[in-house]
Amino acid sequence: MEYIRLDVSKVYGFVNKNEIESAAEKVQKANKALEEKTGKGNDFLGWVNLPSSITEEHLKDIEATAQKIRKEIDVLVVVGIGGSYLGAKAVSEAMTGAFTAYAGSSDKPAVLFAGQNIGEDYLTELMQLLDTKRYAIVVISKSGTTTEPAIAFRILKNHLESKVGEEKAKDLIVAVTDEKKGALRTLANQNDYKTYVIPDDVGGRYSVLTPVGLVPLAIGGFDIRALVNGARDMETKCSSEVSFNDNPAAIYAATRIALYNSGKKIEILANYENKLHYVAEWWKQLFGESDGKDGLGIYPSSVDLTADLHSMGQYIQEGERTLMETVISIAKPDYSLTIPSDKDNLDGLNFLAGKNLDYVNKMAELGTQLAHVDGGVPNIRIELPRLTEYYLGQLMYFFEKACGIGGYLMDINPFNQPGVEAYKKNMFALLEKPGFEEESKKIKERI
Ligand code: PA5
Repeated sequence: MEYIRLDVSKVYGFVNKNEIESAAEKVQKANKALEEKTGKGNDFLGWVNLPSSITEEHLKDIEATAQKIRKEIDVLVVVGIGGSYLGAKAVSEAMTGAFTAYAGSSDKPAVLFAGQNIGEDYLTELMQLLDTKRYAIVVISKSGTTTEPAIAFRILKNHLESKVGEEKAKDLIVAVTDEKKGALRTLANQNDYKTYVIPDDVGGRYSVLTPVGLVPLAIGGFDIRALVNGARDMETKCSSEVSFNDNPAAIYAATRIALYNSGKKIEILANYENKLHYVAEWWKQLFGESDGKDGLGIYPSSVDLTADLHSMGQYIQEGERTLMETVISIAKPDYSLTIPSDKDNLDGLNFLAGKNLDYVNKMAELGTQLAHVDGGVPNIRIELPRLTEYYLGQLMYFFEKACGIGGYLMDINPFNQPGVEAYKKNMFALLEKPGFEEESKKIKERI
């Protein structure tokens, strides 16, 4: 078994190694506080030991549900938003062939998402596709009351019921929600849907290894055991028992915070395999919602390379020098594709004939890394040996642990998200939701 590899040597011109290592004691303390549940937000630390506490029975149950449903569908629609969406989206996009996304089969249904926006056209077009497909729905909401997925589910449930009948629809809907409370729990109980529980002590953005991620991924035909095993191995590797210099989450957390304190306020997560686009979206939620509070926090952003070198490259190279960059690189692609020789060589590319595309990609990565470092952007590099569920499991747990440690280093609570409520209050006031009469009156005076 290999681990993902972290290399922070290209930040040493910006913060020195000693400075990072001098945080070791604080980092170890923060890591211990996470594990012993003694720090801020300690009622949301169920994710810390989650990988090692997932039982065989639990996995078998999810796999049995998945197998039963998969036989009957071409498309799985996952309804959820934020932490109830991004984990499954990240893994499914990363592990789906670039052009197979919409060509679902009984082996591997296409996994599509709804309830992560309120776009009328998006949902209409999804239903136009579903008119011609056999499909099931996994509806996911921890609170069971989030507006976006609740609306999407209401509409999709009607669609499914009118397509296959109310009774059959019950077999094709799985709800992932709180054990007891919330509108979705009531709805699921009343309709006798198969349900899975989101543990109380795991927040949305840390929930990919709960049924929130595992149920849709298993139905989608992805290897959830490998995902869990990767996370388990990383749980051990990032434990507070491991010394600072051997613990990648500890080093990543200390390095980001040292860079932040030196004025690098924005972190760009860059990939050279564009199937990782949604891993970056998941990462942005993880770090953005965890760190961005009390007027603090590194702003998480992302680019898909080399594509975005032709749009964002100029800014990264020469814009305001508040950036740091973290690159995710895949050591070995799944396929081998060489560049052919051409007798006329009109494009002048014969110097690359016989070389693999991945070789060119890696040289682009290396050249970009050196250019960005020269331009004042410190670079952290994370290498995955292969793009598999196992290494994604490692990567996701590694980020979660680093995020928790970093939050404690900044002395904030990385496990709440009070700021998310502000837009909801205004939206409900504008929509004249019962109970928001006072806010409705006030907001109308402002518009
Ligand atoms: O990380 C979080 O807690 C949020 O992003 C939630 O996951 C998101 O708001 C969806 O909430 P719920 O699962 O309650 O519908």
